[in-house]
Amino acid sequence: MKLLIINGPNLNMLGIREPSHYGTETFESLCNRISDYAVQTGNEILQYQSNHEGDLVDKIQQAYFTGVEGIVINPGAYTHTSIALRDALSSVKIPTVEVHISDVNSREDFRKISYVRDVCIKTISGHGTAGYFEAIDLLLEGNK
Ligand code: DQA
Repeated sequence: MKLLIINGPNLNMLGIREPSHYGTETFESLCNRISDYAVQTGNEILQYQSNHEGDLVDKIQQAYFTGVEGIVINPGAYTHTSIALRDALSSVKIPTVEVHISDVNSREDFRKISYVRDVCIKTISGHGTAGYFEAIDLLLEGNK
């Protein structure tokens, strides 16, 4: 299966930013573990990170034209603000799982709002970086 992992703003700062919310694993380590998991499971897993909303929209659109079959997205703070990301996901209709490392529902009220939640098949929140692997497994399962 061909999957795309998308990380939004500040997720490249994992390991540096607020370890009490996001843990101590670096972004590089997470990306490497995801690449290893692709090899282990015999799937193609592409990864993309950007701090720019329009670039994330472009990547979602490009996924449609390049045969991506499932998306795992952690939109970072754009989760709570971006109708553009939501519209991009609902345009391409690629099965998508929303992931948050921290438990967004137990933090500030503004983090409880997600513009992408209802265009995703599932939201995984508060499971740390393990959430990315749960999301990948869910998409792989759905394809069986
Ligand atoms: C986050 C939660 C968001 O509220 C925050 O803006 C992030 C990371 C998470 O993974 O827990 O950047 O998406």
